[in-house]
Amino acid sequence: MSLQSIKYTRGSLEILDQLLLPGQSKYLVVRGVEDGWKVINKMQVRGAPAIAIVGCLSLAVELNPEEFASKKSLRQEIEGKLNYLVSSRPTAVNMKIAADELISLANDLYNDESVDVAEMKQRFLSATEAMLKKDIADNRAIGAHGARAILQGVAEGSGAPAGSSGSVRVLTHCNTGSLATAGYGTALGVVRQLAELGKLEHVYCTETRPYNQGARLTAYELVHEKFPATLVLDSMVAALLRAKNVAAVVVGADRVASNGDTANKIGTYQIAVVAKHHGVPFYVAAPLTSIDLAIPGGDHIIIEERPDREMTHVGEHRIAAPGINCWNPAFDVTPAALITGIITERGVFKPTELKEAISKLQS
Ligand code: MRU
Repeated sequence: MSLQSIKYTRGSLEILDQLLLPGQSKYLVVRGVEDGWKVINKMQVRGAPAIAIVGCLSLAVELNPEEFASKKSLRQEIEGKLNYLVSSRPTAVNMKIAADELISLANDLYNDESVDVAEMKQRFLSATEAMLKKDIADNRAIGAHGARAILQGVAEGSGAPAGSSGSVRVLTHCNTGSLATAGYGTALGVVRQLAELGKLEHVYCTETRPYNQGARLTAYELVHEKFPATLVLDSMVAALLRAKNVAAVVVGADRVASNGDTANKIGTYQIAVVAKHHGVPFYVAAPLTSIDLAIPGGDHIIIEERPDREMTHVGEHRIAAPGINCWNPAFDVTPAALITGIITERGVFKPTELKEAISKLQS
């Protein structure tokens, strides 16, 4: 069974505290929106899809026992709390997109005179809960599309040749697996699908300094799944691509702009540059809820900056010289020109095709 980052039944939400992994597996109870905001902001739960799901479910558990005197007060509560949750972390767009959709649903229910306040609450809770199942289904579709694209690319001669059984070596960055989503994972879902097809020769994961999502979380998931996997430091990627016949890089996304520029974990951009140099295809795996058609390019993405301490300390131990200044952006933007394809649940698109393809899907 794969790891479960989010446990939810109506009225109860728990998240696996990712600050404690891999040493300890401990679930934290999230009682409402204030707890939801804190666990996201402190990165006890992280990963763009998981942030949105936990944020919205934290509102669901808060609303569940409450009685509302009117549809108006319920609508106000929903809108105010969702907008507050959007402020918990700025770069990933998934929470904002989920909030906009749920606020629009609340407005529709408010305007529908055949719906009373009790029904409005029930329908709102059901819509929120549906995010869990949808995310897993989307990730499975991303996995299937991504694995197919990588294997097809190899068959057509891009990247390194496949191993003797047609299996491939891939590299991933940060953590995009069951821990970062409702389950299965995005980029790690592609890796999972390759393994399910018997086509995964090896997966390399980066350490992902400074928060070490790769070493702590992805490595944990890969060991748990018994995939053939090796950890490398972020500084080893160029050497790895030169030496190890990597067929493709596949990473996740926190926000994809309409031109395909992609914000993802710091270090992604330099991996894309190195991949280009070595002729290795570079894929971004992201659900449509990570794509922000409202912004034309990556310059419009707000990049979260995190505390110096994440760089200067490992646990309680200081490793950097006292007094040194630090710059700690949590994400960077990979220009679309370095991206081979964006793998979504609806297919794989070249960055230049993305906007039109999604507009067509939505019309
Ligand atoms: O700071 P984090 O750990 O939330 O950053 C996570 C990433 O950058 C992931 O690659 C991204 O959110 C995609 S998760 C499916």
